[in-house]
Amino acid sequence: MRLTRTVSPAAFVAVLLAGCARPGATPAPSASPVPPASAAPAPAAPAPAAGSTATGTTAARAAAVVPNPNAPKVLVIATGGTIAGVQNAPGTLGSYRAGTLTAEQITASVPELARYARVETEQFSNVASTLVTPEMWVQLAKRINTVLQRGDLAGVVVTHGTDRLEETAFFLYLTVRSSKPVVVVGAQRPATGISPDGPINLLSAVRTAASPKAVQKGVMVVMDDRILSARESRKLYQRTGGFSTGDMGMLGVVASQGPEFFFAPVRRFGERSEFDLDGVDTLPKVELTMSYPGGTGQTFTTNPQGVVVATTGMTAAESATYRALRQTGVVVVTSFTSGENVNGGGGGGDGPPVPARTDTTARRDSVARPAAAPVPPVPPAVVALHLTPTKARILLMVALTKTKNPREVQRIFNEY
Ligand code: SIN
Repeated sequence: MRLTRTVSPAAFVAVLLAGCARPGATPAPSASPVPPASAAPAPAAPAPAAGSTATGTTAARAAAVVPNPNAPKVLVIATGGTIAGVQNAPGTLGSYRAGTLTAEQITASVPELARYARVETEQFSNVASTLVTPEMWVQLAKRINTVLQRGDLAGVVVTHGTDRLEETAFFLYLTVRSSKPVVVVGAQRPATGISPDGPINLLSAVRTAASPKAVQKGVMVVMDDRILSARESRKLYQRTGGFSTGDMGMLGVVASQGPEFFFAPVRRFGERSEFDLDGVDTLPKVELTMSYPGGTGQTFTTNPQGVVVATTGMTAAESATYRALRQTGVVVVTSFTSGENVNGGGGGGDGPPVPARTDTTARRDSVARPAAAPVPPVPPAVVALHLTPTKARILLMVALTKTKNPREVQRIFNEY
């Protein structure tokens, strides 16, 4: 049994009022997922819940909602973040504590959800997203894979801090093996702040997760009325509207009449994903490093199985360092910092596979060497096309659960 609850519209108001009656008891964020309900202490009601500074307003909104008894069921899994953030001085622009409100309190602040979905809630963790670990990604993905097997569940919404939202969303994109929608959502302003964006983002996320149009679109990030593929979404800045897909475009929008899709992702994800987390609890260690003018490359004491180098072209010294690393069996991936390496080889597009081009600097160096110098055979580097270095790291971690062969890793990078 998990800490799962079905939230009725009447309960929305009751939960808000309960939140108001017991102010000040802010639970300490925990870096681990919340234990099953039987073992979990009753969540303490924190400082005023979202919307509870205007409880009358929320109550009036709840009273105006005609719940749809036939609406699809959506499970909201809360992990923490600003969307669950509470300020010391609510209703200001002041500082706040992320990961404070519970899943129930967050959904309670948006009674309109009942028009579009029968919402259930589950508390996975309640932390700032900087505390989210790869082990938590694995547990979260396993949990979502399990609940999506329920025939009565249309989709899942994950509430999450925005600092690390794009990473969790991309991990889920690779490892949730279902055609049902999974939507990750956050907020840039705390729930108690002036004009919080969490409630409208949550409404858009739930409407998307409940929509048959969102089936087979993979894991999405829905914020600021935009529907973004988790593969391409990035936090560009810390204000509302800060999530973008750059040149890759958005999948659709959440309009007043509901989600509208313009595009569907065509790469591998969801049901077509080959990544099975059964038996996986931890992910292979992968380091991430930058290349820069004058750089000599980085060596690691952490014994990684893989290294991602953010680069648009390496120095000769960097190239030598990473070539030596490859020779020890470490899989090295190069990725543009922008994530927009759309012409980098690797065979991702139409036509015959193109050999990886990461060692071009090394080949140029070799021109300067004595003609007789032997060039040792080295395992090829892998090119990450259209992926930011942080996302390339996640794909490499997942790929290494299956293979350490760099050619096979390149195949994975071409397909996902
Ligand atoms: C966090 O990532 O937990 C805090 C920042 C945010 O959610 O916007």
